[in-house]
Amino acid sequence: MTQDDVQQTAVNASADEPVEAAERTPEGHPLHKVLSFVRRSGRLDARLQRAWDNYADKYLLDISAGGNTLDVREGFVFDRAFIERTWGNDNPLIVEIGTGQGENVVAAAASHPERNFLALEVYDPGVAHTLLLAGKQGLDNIRVAQVNAPELFKVAAPGVVEEVWTFFPDPWPKKKHHKRRIVQEALAADIHRALADGGVWRIATDIEDYALHVHEVMDALPDWRNAGGITVSLPTEHVGKGNADLAESMPHADFQESERFAGRVLTNFENKGLTAGRVIHDFTYAKA
Ligand SMILES: C[S@@+](CC[C@H](N)C(=O)[O-])C[C@H]1O[C@@H](n2cnc3c(N)ncnc32)[C@H](O)[C@@H]1O
Repeated sequence: MTQDDVQQTAVNASADEPVEAAERTPEGHPLHKVLSFVRRSGRLDARLQRAWDNYADKYLLDISAGGNTLDVREGFVFDRAFIERTWGNDNPLIVEIGTGQGENVVAAAASHPERNFLALEVYDPGVAHTLLLAGKQGLDNIRVAQVNAPELFKVAAPGVVEEVWTFFPDPWPKKKHHKRRIVQEALAADIHRALADGGVWRIATDIEDYALHVHEVMDALPDWRNAGGITVSLPTEHVGKGNADLAESMPHADFQESERFAGRVLTNFENKGLTAGRVIHDFTYAKA
């Protein structure tokens, strides 16, 4: 079964689509959730459908609520017992948020059999492609969950994750959509709780305005340490969609960022950014 009501996100989303999905509090009041992705109807081509049929049983976790949300199933807790049951060991777990086609998380899983990997992706073809890559190599240390990533971190038990990776999050360039950017204080708090002592959240973006956003959200949080060792000059104001050229003439300030994370392979997505002349910003935030 595919959840073919979910498709690609902000990169090619019409910017004026509805932003919020309505839910209810336990008291029955409406609760509005800002989503970092857009739901669309979509279909898998024959190759990806075959991959889904062949590999979903082995790799795809049955933890989503179903229906028209990508929340996690009610009552589900992402704890050590679930992790040990699912991966069959207690090796360190790395969770990648927004794995796209899965190139990076599958390459990492293949080169680190001593670690467990969880790919979180909402987009059907991305999920299917990740299943395909993992299945072709017969990997045993990777699982995929088609859930809205912040919802999983809300139900994560303390200290169960060694690292979290968010590489090239959807940029949401319009200022009115910055609240849809996935790097937000609430998610940072949930990731902080989920990380083991010494754990890190690695982030990368090829969008300068998103780099400023990451610094604004993360650098001020007292329970995170920006472990970056290189100084980068960035504009201190947001430019909004289509105005990236204006950024150069704006006031700038220095920020700390990281060298390229050696554990990240070059995905098609990153390659497109580089080809377009964009600079990659890498961040390492350590649980303080
Ligand atoms: C710009 S793509 C980058 C994909 C990949 N990291 C890469 O570098 O090629 C961002 C991905 O994040 C996924 N995404 C966006 N919001 C998400 C969420 N709340 N939970 C899980 N995945 C999400 C999108 O579907 C998309 O595939």
